[in-house]
Amino acid sequence: MRIVLLGPPGSGKGTQAALLKDRLGVPHISTGDLLRAAVRDGTPLGIKAKAAMDAGELVSDELMLGLIEERMGAPDVKAGYLLDGYPRNLAQARALDELLDRLALPVDKALALTVDEEQIVHRLAKRAEQEGRSDDTEEVVRNRLAVYREQTAPVTGYYAEKQLLQEVDGMGSIEEINQRLTTALG
Ligand code: AP5
Repeated sequence: MRIVLLGPPGSGKGTQAALLKDRLGVPHISTGDLLRAAVRDGTPLGIKAKAAMDAGELVSDELMLGLIEERMGAPDVKAGYLLDGYPRNLAQARALDELLDRLALPVDKALALTVDEEQIVHRLAKRAEQEGRSDDTEEVVRNRLAVYREQTAPVTGYYAEKQLLQEVDGMGSIEEINQRLTTALG
């Protein structure tokens, strides 16, 4: 299965992908995780991306396309993928389609998790306490949500037009949401 997971920051994309990947036998590809690893390792990509990430802004489309091209070209992706965090705007959605057409690995389904903003703020404040992720501070979370509304939310319309979009209620327990996603995947 070739799946794109959509949803605002803190909607549970990473949590749910980690649960689904083994069942589906496909890699979980999180651009946020790839970027955080690059920052940790001090690679040229990490050095360029860090300021945008710390501010809750998007890293440039050019850098992201290079990253995603490299990852989607790896052999494990032939089995399928769970893509989490990409595409993040309409330009990325179009670039991804071009890339996946070239690789003959088009998206089967886009699953969008819907979660109340109040719940998002609560989840990310809790993670800030527990893990201290640098972009989970109140001010940066507010900006990540604004960036989501302005740039990423239109991506759901892009997949709706292609009749690939399915919205899934992302409120409730992790298990309940996992069950809904499993049903949505058919
Ligand atoms: P990224 O890592 O993708 O951040 P995000 O989308 O804001 O994702 P999160 O990890 O915060 O949320 P999630 O939906 O995965 O939820 P999670 O499962 O973690 O990106 C970080 C940054 O990198 C971006 O701001 C940007 O700068 C850059 N970037 C990444 N991709 C990019 C791209 N394509 N283009 C440009 N820039 C890019 O859950 C969140 C918390 O809630 C966890 O603590 C979890 O345990 C908890 N939780 C999950 N489900 C539940 C539940 N049901 N009930 C209670 N708690 C729950």
